[in-house]
Amino acid sequence: MSKRKIIIEPDPILRKKSTSLEKVDNDLRKLMDDMLETMYSAPGIGLAAVQIGILKRVVVIDISKGEEKKNPIFLVNPEITFKSNQTSTYEEGCLSLPGHFAEVERPAECHLNYIDYNGKKQKLQTDGLLATCVQHEIDHLNGVLFIDYLSKLKRDMIIKKLKKNKKEINKIVL
Ligand code: NI
Repeated sequence: MSKRKIIIEPDPILRKKSTSLEKVDNDLRKLMDDMLETMYSAPGIGLAAVQIGILKRVVVIDISKGEEKKNPIFLVNPEITFKSNQTSTYEEGCLSLPGHFAEVERPAECHLNYIDYNGKKQKLQTDGLLATCVQHEIDHLNGVLFIDYLSKLKRDMIIKKLKKNKKEINKIVL
């Protein structure tokens, strides 16, 4: 496993739509292992392949807390088949938008079809934090970020700050 560099907004790749995978092979498993390591060391609870610059429909998630046993979930070609009318609101963050958080309202429950780490078709019914996390990550596969649910004013303010931080980082590197 090796850690990859996480792409930070604003970056045009984060706005691109990822493509479906034909099959789960060892190369893809290697990618998923790298994504998991990158996510754990960030640390974060979800990561989409596009966030390390790979436009494939792959997501890793682990919502287990500190002392709990690790419980990684690998989603290849995830597809939401049901979203509840009932909603829930979480304060969301994103590894591609470091330091920024905002409340986002999403369907409280969702069902999905996906392919797992071993290439097997699976179904999952989720609610609570996992449902929000799944929807946030699937948004990434469609070029959508959580700030897209905020007002234009708030979104522009966050992007402006991130841009400024990037410039400062570049200065230090020089
Ligand atoms: Ni994210």
